Amino acid sequence: MKLPLPAPDAQAFSDRLKALIAADITHSGGWISFARFMNLALYAPGQGYYSGGAHKFGPAGDFITAPEISPLFARALAAQVEQIMALSAPQIIEVGAGAGSLAADLLLELERRGTLPTSYAILELSGELRERQRQRIARDAAHLLDRVIWLDRLPQHFDGLVLANELLDALPVHLVQWQESAILERGVAWENGQFIWHDRPAQGRLLDRAQALADEFALSFAYLSEIGLAASDWTAAWGSILGCGALLLIDYGFPRHEFYCPQRSSGTLMCHYRHHAHPDPFMLPGLQDITAHVDFTALIENGFEAGLELYGYTTQGVFLMNCGLPEILARTPADDSPLYLSQVQAVQKLASPAEMGERFKVMALGKGIEEPLLGFAEGDRSEML
Ligand SMILES: C[S@@+](CC[C@H](N)C(=O)[O-])C[C@H]1O[C@@H](n2cnc3c(N)ncnc32)[C@H](O)[C@@H]1O
Repeated sequence: MKLPLPAPDAQAFSDRLKALIAADITHSGGWISFARFMNLALYAPGQGYYSGGAHKFGPAGDFITAPEISPLFARALAAQVEQIMALSAPQIIEVGAGAGSLAADLLLELERRGTLPTSYAILELSGELRERQRQRIARDAAHLLDRVIWLDRLPQHFDGLVLANELLDALPVHLVQWQESAILERGVAWENGQFIWHDRPAQGRLLDRAQALADEFALSFAYLSEIGLAASDWTAAWGSILGCGALLLIDYGFPRHEFYCPQRSSGTLMCHYRHHAHPDPFMLPGLQDITAHVDFTALIENGFEAGLELYGYTTQGVFLMNCGLPEILARTPADDSPLYLSQVQAVQKLASPAEMGERFKVMALGKGIEEPLLGFAEGDRSEML
């Protein structure tokens, strides 16, 4: 695929990251797992895609997320956020807050509804994004900035709402190649100045998970896919942190039987560079996003083991409708035609099954919440997990 050429300084940034990953491979004996490669490519301090200076979000970046499409996303989400806070505690932690749009728009909508949280904490790996988040909130909701704090790590204990939009798809995944008589882990080696794929027998926990999938779905000859151990571990970690509250996880993905179906025999790994999607993670490291879909069944399995309950699972489209997206649209004065039309377009993007409405899912997991959550009132798909 022909991608737009990076500017010389961006190319130099990518070359430096390439050299860092190559040195890591050499230091590790000539091979690293793909999860290690993805972790360095995205999060190597100061040098990875998220931790470095790449523009990332929006029309001038590489991809666009729901909160960047329109504040309507945050406004609809606010109904669910408000209910969870009322049933637990008025506190929010947003994990992986990107450019900070969701934080700013959600705080403004909660203020309008008279249900501001006492604190809005952001857990963000990237120093560059933390600064952008601070600037975004200072620009759009300056009077609420003193409620926002940034965390360096997961807390020891938390009551309230944990929000993560498109976090889990950005966590490193392992690649597995199932063959007729072996299960191999696909990793990365460095040869003649290039990254190359190199397979080794899978081991330990990865092998156990891959074997269980092979048994359940008869995966064999040349089936290549991802196993997201980091996403499962991250979710399960909240089992011992949450007292009373819920995680609201929004991301693209499927239940397991759809993830590992025969048609998806080359997995879901995808890269995004200036709004071009392609499957080659070795291209322009540090300048492109690398993502994989989420296996939502794995999240609940690990969540259950860690003591979390499932409160709902549905599509983003159904969830936003349950949260009152049509009523929010109706608040826009219809005589302001440019605004009204742009809002209708945003609703279409966020909720239509042909756009983000079906591909993106919303899952709520948690502890101690006794009432059904309104975002899953109609069209809950938990039984599909
Ligand atoms: C695809 S972006 C989504 C950003 C934002 N939520 C949005 O919807 O626009 C992923 C975000 O997760 C952050 N991130 C990735 N791993 C993380 C981790 N383990 N803890 C906290 N943030 C993380 C990235 O730096 C980035 O801000």
